[in-house]
Amino acid sequence: MTDVSAAAAGQAASLTVRDNRTGTEYDLPIVDGTIKAADLGKIRTADDEPGLAVYDPGFVNTASCRSAVTYIDGEKGILEYRGYPIEQLAEKSNFLEVAYLLIHGELPTKAEYEAWVHEITYHTFVHENVKGFMHGFRYDAHPMGMLMASVGALSTFYPDARNIDDPDNRHMQIVRMIAKMPTLGAWAFRHAQGKPFIYPDNELSYTENFLSMLFRMSEQKFAADPRLAKALDVLLILHADHEQNCSTNAVRSVGSSQVDPYSAVAAGIGALYGPLHGGANEAVLRMLKRIGTKENIPAFIEGVKNGNERLMGFGHRVYKNYDPRAKLIKKACDDVFEVTGVNPLLEIAQELEKIALEDEYFVKRKLYPNVDFYSGLIYEALQFPPEMFTVLFAIGRTPGWLAQWNELIQDKEQKIARPKQIYTGDRTLTFVPAEERWA
Ligand SMILES: CC(C)(COP(=O)(O)OP(=O)(O)OC[C@H]1O[C@@H](n2cnc3c(N)ncnc32)[C@H](O)[C@@H]1OP(=O)(O)O)[C@@H](O)C(=O)NCCC(=O)NCCS
Repeated sequence: MTDVSAAAAGQAASLTVRDNRTGTEYDLPIVDGTIKAADLGKIRTADDEPGLAVYDPGFVNTASCRSAVTYIDGEKGILEYRGYPIEQLAEKSNFLEVAYLLIHGELPTKAEYEAWVHEITYHTFVHENVKGFMHGFRYDAHPMGMLMASVGALSTFYPDARNIDDPDNRHMQIVRMIAKMPTLGAWAFRHAQGKPFIYPDNELSYTENFLSMLFRMSEQKFAADPRLAKALDVLLILHADHEQNCSTNAVRSVGSSQVDPYSAVAAGIGALYGPLHGGANEAVLRMLKRIGTKENIPAFIEGVKNGNERLMGFGHRVYKNYDPRAKLIKKACDDVFEVTGVNPLLEIAQELEKIALEDEYFVKRKLYPNVDFYSGLIYEALQFPPEMFTVLFAIGRTPGWLAQWNELIQDKEQKIARPKQIYTGDRTLTFVPAEERWA
């Protein structure tokens, strides 16, 4: 029973715990469906013994903060930013407006929106020395490694960023980071290809400018197909926040030391780089290529059911229903393929989805397509190599990371992140110096 229903039934919103070691009973208040771990700490066998703690590797059932940024109901397939359904934002808004919403908590007025777009647009340039150190990476450097390093390095260009208690200062760094991320991502991409870096074009929209920095060659002005720019904008919106996922937790954890936001976001990029987090769409693409033709699908599905394969892009820790983002990405697929021609892997993906959604194995386990099932196909159609997929995710996630960081800094209940451990090693050994041990 939740505390709300308990209150409605006239019962106390509390949990009574009996410690069988001592026979003592404790009444722990339940607030917002949680008990405080610190209240458990009061349960102890003696005053000089440590209090009871919770063992929760991966924080699967531990709330680390209060947050008003993003709401997810995994059972129902609901995702909302600041209360607005993702479907409406993807269809009717744009990435910069969504970024404003995430950061400020409310939609902008016309004047606020124009000022925001102006600010972001005029901070897209990076210090010329950034170009210098980006050239220093090896020719085959992974663009995520380059992005992580260059975002971290921005903290040295803006030492004032460590003044995190000043709201105007925080605003400045938020604007800078959202503005510069596409520049850094595009330059990492160009570096791998040995192509010159393209400076931002302030006459273009956020997404058009990004495409220009990625793909422009000798033309005076890069004109992206508006349908492709729109599809990429929608993908950025869909990735903009996802409450306390691994990278956001990294940003909050590092940010809780009160370091500058560039260092905190660099930590988030590091977390996103990992294959369990940002790398799944690349795995989907590899899987589709391996399947090769529709005829091979039944054998592949059998392999999945026998436990020899995993259907990448299916299943989610939180969503036990169709991932709402996957539906929207499917729609963006149609728009992109209208311009680029259909990716032959799409047919295999659609057939796989059809079979899986009807198969008892997947139905029983509530396995539905997630955000990564179709996004790799779009990115490939837009000419991105697989290493760039996670960079695109990072650019989209930046406003979310910053909104969560900004919330953390102002949250009076937050402390430096410092989990407990259950110590399993030796104790009180006597050290024998090397010359005696090796004698
Ligand atoms: C996302 C993911 C890691 C979630 O994992 P989780 O919440 O820990 O779920 P579990 O691994 O406990 O899965 C529950 C059951 O479904 C099965 N399952 C989960 N995802 C599966 C998949 N993609 N293909 C086949 N079986 C899958 C598991 O084998 C398990 O079956 P069992 O009960 O018979 O042992 C997992 O679904 C997965 O690996 N998906 C593929 C990778 C992916 O697309 N990641 C991107 C996430 S956005």
